[in-house]
Amino acid sequence: MKFFIDTANLDQIKEAQDLGILDGVTTNPSLMAKEGITGEQNVINHYKAICAIVDDKVSAEVISTTYEEIIKEGEALAALDAKIVVKVPMIKDGVKAIKYFTSKGIRTNCTLIFSAGQALLAAKAGATYVSPFLGRLDDIGSEGLTLIEDIRLIFDNYGYPTEILAASIRGPLHIISCAKLGADVMTGPLTAILGLLKHPLTDSGLATFLADHKKAAEAAVKA
Ligand code: E4P
Repeated sequence: MKFFIDTANLDQIKEAQDLGILDGVTTNPSLMAKEGITGEQNVINHYKAICAIVDDKVSAEVISTTYEEIIKEGEALAALDAKIVVKVPMIKDGVKAIKYFTSKGIRTNCTLIFSAGQALLAAKAGATYVSPFLGRLDDIGSEGLTLIEDIRLIFDNYGYPTEILAASIRGPLHIISCAKLGADVMTGPLTAILGLLKHPLTDSGLATFLADHKKAAEAAVKA
């Protein structure tokens, strides 16, 4: 399973990259705004700064909603760095744009996927990734994980190469469930990734090992 971090915060991206487990980054206009990144040039500079930290796969989302504008904006984003994946919303013009980007060899991430039908359309258009939003479905009382399961079944039935990028991940249990269901990628906050590290028996076990080691070393000195 590939691990992406879902943030525009450079310190958190560095921390995940330093851990040695990071495969990519996803951003969106809300995450950029949260970091106070506004204005075209600042946004461009921020994408470049992210690309300088990670090895590959930086999703940069278009804010255009018409075919021509999505193409223009997406091509400009893709030209910034070979690591950029153009993130396109699941709308009619977005699907057409994904088809165009695919024909030009530009990688795409179709975002705001909330149904299996949307994922199927994006895969047919050649999207590199589809991003089903688990947490937001859970928030409205819908079962986010069922969507991952359905998309996995459909993509496997037809051998679509489009990868399932489980998004809107809220915690470590979401990551584990998505891994069990065969999602290719997950994107989540640093807290969800670091949450995988934790187990109370690991902490108590390590404390015992270190205490026993210390005791044995003290006994050896006395002997
Ligand atoms: C996906 O790429 C989105 O950035 C994301 O996962 C949105 O998640 P949220 O529901 O936590 O905003």
